[in-house]
Amino acid sequence: MKTLPAKKLLFRFLVITGLSLVYAGLLFFTYYKTHSSTAIGLCSFLFNIIVAWRWGQLAGVLMVVLNTVWTGIVLHYFGKGVDVGTFMGVSMQMAIAILTGMVGSLTRKLRSEIAFRLTAENKLKEYQNQLEEMVQKRTEELRAANERLRQAEKMEAIGQLAGGVAHDFNNQLTIIMGYCELLLNSLEKDSASWNFVKQIDVSGRRSGDLTRQLLAFARKGVYKSQTVDINKIANEVTSLVSRSVKNVEFNMDLRAEKPFIWGGPSQLQNAVLNLTLNARDAMENGGKLTIETKNLELGADAADIISDNKLSPGTYVCLSVKDTGTGISPDAMKHIFEPFFTTKGEGKGTGMGLAAVYGIVNSHKGGLKVETSPGKGSTFTLIFPVTEPANQGLNTDTRLLKKKKIDADVLVVDDEQDVAVMLKNMLITMGCKVTVVYSGKEAIEIYKKRWKEINVTIIDMVMPGMNGAETFKALKQINPEIKTIIYSGYPQKNDIDRVVEDSAMIFLQKPFTMTEIADRIQHILSGKTEGFLVTGN
Ligand SMILES: Nc1ncnc2c1ncn2[C@@H]1O[C@H](COP(=O)(O)OP(=O)(O)OP(=O)(O)O)[C@@H](O)[C@H]1O
Ligand SMILES: [Mg+2]
Repeated sequence: MKTLPAKKLLFRFLVITGLSLVYAGLLFFTYYKTHSSTAIGLCSFLFNIIVAWRWGQLAGVLMVVLNTVWTGIVLHYFGKGVDVGTFMGVSMQMAIAILTGMVGSLTRKLRSEIAFRLTAENKLKEYQNQLEEMVQKRTEELRAANERLRQAEKMEAIGQLAGGVAHDFNNQLTIIMGYCELLLNSLEKDSASWNFVKQIDVSGRRSGDLTRQLLAFARKGVYKSQTVDINKIANEVTSLVSRSVKNVEFNMDLRAEKPFIWGGPSQLQNAVLNLTLNARDAMENGGKLTIETKNLELGADAADIISDNKLSPGTYVCLSVKDTGTGISPDAMKHIFEPFFTTKGEGKGTGMGLAAVYGIVNSHKGGLKVETSPGKGSTFTLIFPVTEPANQGLNTDTRLLKKKKIDADVLVVDDEQDVAVMLKNMLITMGCKVTVVYSGKEAIEIYKKRWKEINVTIIDMVMPGMNGAETFKALKQINPEIKTIIYSGYPQKNDIDRVVEDSAMIFLQKPFTMTEIADRIQHILSGKTEGFLVTGN
């Protein structure tokens, strides 16, 4: 129970005394006006009840006692006609007033308790609603995060598988295409046999493209990064595709003022090309295709961006390819980035386009966004972190394609005999002098003896025992000026870094053609490795 401060108590005492004096005045006034004990009784009753109700128990009792004393005085001195019964009645009023006071204070307490509970209940309801909303939002976020994780894990697993398949596939393709090229060189041009071999060669190249897409998806493609202008990529792809498309209106809106990103130009071109071809295919009956670039300040609003990377806030450049075609059904949407998922007819689509886009975007530390409305069209947006423009743009097309004979002494190191022999045949056809060994160990022995004569070493990256990078390191200790072309069908990240770092090496992706080998030998002999596209495409 709380105790009242002295000031308040004094205030209450004064109010009670004041009120009681008012009552006394009222009583005298009533008596002189009416001379009726009934009027006095009624007045006393009303006053007591009101005071008791309003003032609660203790104050009520005090008031009533004081009032009764006043009533007694009035009746005793002035109430000649008033009997003792009336006084008794007044005393009864005292008891009723006390009871009334009790009920009044109880009711007031109850009323404030109810009001308090009602407010609390409303607040509780409000909190409950807020909590439900928060739980719903969090559940939705968790579900989306889970879905992204599941999708990323699935993509990672498929990527591993795809990379492995590409490795074996590339080895076989290298042999098939190498011999095709040798045959084409030895057969009479446009003879029946030449045409047959040409067909094999064309199919081989297509398969090579496919494994390249697979590697792009598995993020195992190798390229030397450089500053790339996204606006330029958009221009290049448009000029490439626009001529081959009928009934489609091409539009470009290149608004990115900071269009530079760090990456591989051919990979990026490949990604945009895939999106553009998909947009074209979605508009068989014509439509409008828009390629747009713009800058974007990314804050915490990256939730709807598909990416295996955590996109940190900052400036990004977006490239979107928008079509007014068929759109994508919700069912298909779940699978579009999976390798080999296609809704195009047999032989029309490989289903590798968007899988490659997915791999490329992620290996460039970016993300992508898809907006689609079935029957109305789709927009695919690629998002990359921007970089500062390079001082001098590296020339991306520095291939030196000269058909003249190459006068070089070449050491080939490959554990796969078939590939090594095919390569030897190619090199001999080019005019080179060739030595083939099947392991890193053998290569070291030969190189120790003949390093002064050997101009170029060509090494397979993946070999049992000493791998390509280790062999290269050992050979470089013998001759720090060594010039090496290293190739692989399935290069690993560490190997890629090693090649990209070392200017004495050029990487070549299997399957490769004779022209590509010749190209790289001439290039490395000229002492230049920078700016050279090392993906082999
Ligand atoms: N712009 C688009 N409009 C409608 N559907 C699309 C679009 N882009 C992709 N798709 C759907 O996604 C599927 C997968 O696309 P993806 O590029 O991976 O393979 P593809 O185009 O079928 O084959 P390929 O790229 O080898 O020609 C397509 O078959 C199509 O159903
Ligand atoms: Mg496609």
